[in-house]
Amino acid sequence: MAQARKTIGLLFGGRSAEHEVSKLSAANVLRALDPDRYDIVPIGIGRDGRWLLCDGGNGGGRGARSLEIPEGAPQVALLPGGSGETIVLDRDRPPRTLRLDAVVPVLHGPNGEDGTVQGCLELANVPYVGSGVMGSAAGMDKDIAKRLLRDGGLPVVPFLTLTPRTRVAYRAAAEALGTADLFVKPANMGSSVGVSRAASAEEFDGACERAFRYDGKVLVERSVTGAREIECSVLEDAAGEVRASPLGEIVPSDSHGFYSYDAKYVDADGALLRIPADVPPALGRRIQELAVQTFKALACEALARVDFFLDPKSDDGLFVNEVNTLPGFTAISMYPKLWEAGGLPQDELMEVLIAHAIARHARRNALALV
Ligand SMILES: Nc1ncnc2c1ncn2[C@@H]1O[C@H](COP(=O)(O)OP(=O)(O)O)[C@@H](O)[C@H]1O
Ligand SMILES: [Mg+2]
Repeated sequence: MAQARKTIGLLFGGRSAEHEVSKLSAANVLRALDPDRYDIVPIGIGRDGRWLLCDGGNGGGRGARSLEIPEGAPQVALLPGGSGETIVLDRDRPPRTLRLDAVVPVLHGPNGEDGTVQGCLELANVPYVGSGVMGSAAGMDKDIAKRLLRDGGLPVVPFLTLTPRTRVAYRAAAEALGTADLFVKPANMGSSVGVSRAASAEEFDGACERAFRYDGKVLVERSVTGAREIECSVLEDAAGEVRASPLGEIVPSDSHGFYSYDAKYVDADGALLRIPADVPPALGRRIQELAVQTFKALACEALARVDFFLDPKSDDGLFVNEVNTLPGFTAISMYPKLWEAGGLPQDELMEVLIAHAIARHARRNALALV
């Protein structure tokens, strides 16, 4: 029996530094959604936070490299308790409604990947792709994530957490972490925004200032400079089975020093993706196991990319660096590429994710309310 067509809301853009990357990811996700099965409603979140209905979903947007938010697009609002019912506020017409069967949030960073949008989708009682409020929030906050991972016995790079009230001087941080070579980063960010290396008091002060620009909480870590950066995609299906993809490696070019914002997005030759990563099979399996454990420790659901540091100079040099619960999904992004390498093309990957969203929603709605 043919399945009924579904209307899928594609949420993209967002109020974060990763707004532009999200537009690229969304165009790629749109291409991977089967037009014979889905009607796509692209909803762009402007930099001011408004949700706007963007036309050209199935037709116009399909060939585009990046989804755009047209000037003057009508505002939309998901109704709490409305099972996906969405009001469209056209400027010159009476309000109308449309119903979304599921939502695919393609948003990276704060206000999208951190549980805020997920909370909104929960209140709207609509199935959505990806981690729920808890997994999204835990994965976004590097301080909370690392404490949960440490508690779960997973290896993380030693770190300190600073707030404006608990700031320490370089010397104290270096002593506490046992090294002069430090990394400073905002707790809640992404795309390497606000991340810097600091190996002197002067560099440390500048690094803290940059990081505090983006968050009231900052991590100082021991630097594992020279470590390889290995990534693993994790996927949970509708039945709750969690599996890990083949591994990939990020090789930032020497000119960038580390995997900085420019190396990620500005310089086309800033970094190389090596798929599969060249690691011995037993170590590869260990990393895949750690990726699944990390996913579970942080209450992730559906998908996450787990990023590792592998220090070849040390026997115990394997660390979980971070998770990304809505990882980059552009045509050249690691998450979908790793699944392709694992034999799962992007259209099938989207089927698994949407099926997971619908099954989870049905399970939650079957729970007793009192
Ligand atoms: N402790 C560290 N030692 C060495 N390099 C680091 C360390 N932490 C971060 N980096 C470098 O900075 C990049 C961005 O840091 P990351 O913690 O992954 O934040 P983001 O969420 O912005 O990607 C990493 O990919 C890596 O190249
Ligand atoms: Mg990272």
